Amino acid sequence: MKDIVFSGVQPTHSLHIGNYIGALKQWAHIQQQHHCYFCIVDEHAITVPHDPTTLRQRIQLVAAIYLAAGIDPKKSILFVQSEVPQHTELGWLLMTIAKMGELERMTQYKDKSRKGGASGASLGLFGYPVLMAADILLYDTSIVPVGEDQLQHVELARVLARRFNERYGDTFVIPQPLIQQFGARIMSLQDPSVKMSKSDEHEMAAVFLTDEDDVIRKKIMRAVTDSEAGIVYDAEKKPAVSNLMTIYHHMTGQTMKEIEAAFDDKGYGDFKKALAEAVITHVGPIRAKIQGYLDDPTELNKTLDAGRDKALAVAEAKMKIVRNKMGLGR
Ligand code: AMP
Ligand code: TRP
Repeated sequence: MKDIVFSGVQPTHSLHIGNYIGALKQWAHIQQQHHCYFCIVDEHAITVPHDPTTLRQRIQLVAAIYLAAGIDPKKSILFVQSEVPQHTELGWLLMTIAKMGELERMTQYKDKSRKGGASGASLGLFGYPVLMAADILLYDTSIVPVGEDQLQHVELARVLARRFNERYGDTFVIPQPLIQQFGARIMSLQDPSVKMSKSDEHEMAAVFLTDEDDVIRKKIMRAVTDSEAGIVYDAEKKPAVSNLMTIYHHMTGQTMKEIEAAFDDKGYGDFKKALAEAVITHVGPIRAKIQGYLDDPTELNKTLDAGRDKALAVAEAKMKIVRNKMGLGR
């Protein structure tokens, strides 16, 4: 039996190798076995101040990145969140059963609202995890592949699904998060204590899938390392090099043991050179494909149109049940 899988990325920027390793690469793999929905969550992207023209360009860019990273529209449904209005509708309905206290505990909200001041944070930023729960629950999703930072949000989706089922009768499938062992959290190249993030102010912190070869090389050669030498995986004691090794593992398929053996007598400089070339070899072809889709967006738009139509049909069928259970309408 195939499971239903749902995941999404915000089109707030180009995507970096953290998004690729933590999300896209895993998606490309999981679509071989399951029935997958991969969404471009543009309504999540407007919970912080944004520029409309840039957002629209980024939606195209992220769609191109999905395809270039190996998401196959013959196997998976790829669509833009705002083109399926049932997401915001269910989001509102779930707001009526979500509790303020539950949302106040969300780490991402605390981080993002701290940056701009909690009292100035929008209600949308506060309610963001409820919209994410709606995304997931609309499609009877059982598996949600995400990076570690999203675990708390998937947990909320589970809580809301259970609460809804108890209150209104069995309606939603309880989803499970799916996290991988290495790479669930790729850290900044400049500070291994914070995750690699699209919005990092330090321009050397993240390698983007759209970066040119020489930029990739520069960023990796300037990555910080640990005080103690040696290419050894130890996330606690050697967080910087362990992070670089995790990236290397995902670019080459080599295990941590194999990497340690290969660089046994080598220094950080040699390892970083090898890592830069491994990233370039892996990311170069993806970057070329992204450009191809952007230069001729016909295929991209056809894919997104077809994805929207399939998602709309499933989402509306689910909403009919939900409205009915809640006693809405006539
Ligand atoms: P975001 O960049 O927050 O829109 O995240 C999109 C997807 O990439 C989510 O599944 C995240 O969990 C994942 N992700 C984001 N940053 C990282 C990171 N540094 N390491 C691993 N996965 C990440
Ligand atoms: N909140 C997620 C992020 O920032 C993106 C997202 C929105 C998502 N809806 C989702 C991920 C549903 C998985 C499932 O990364």
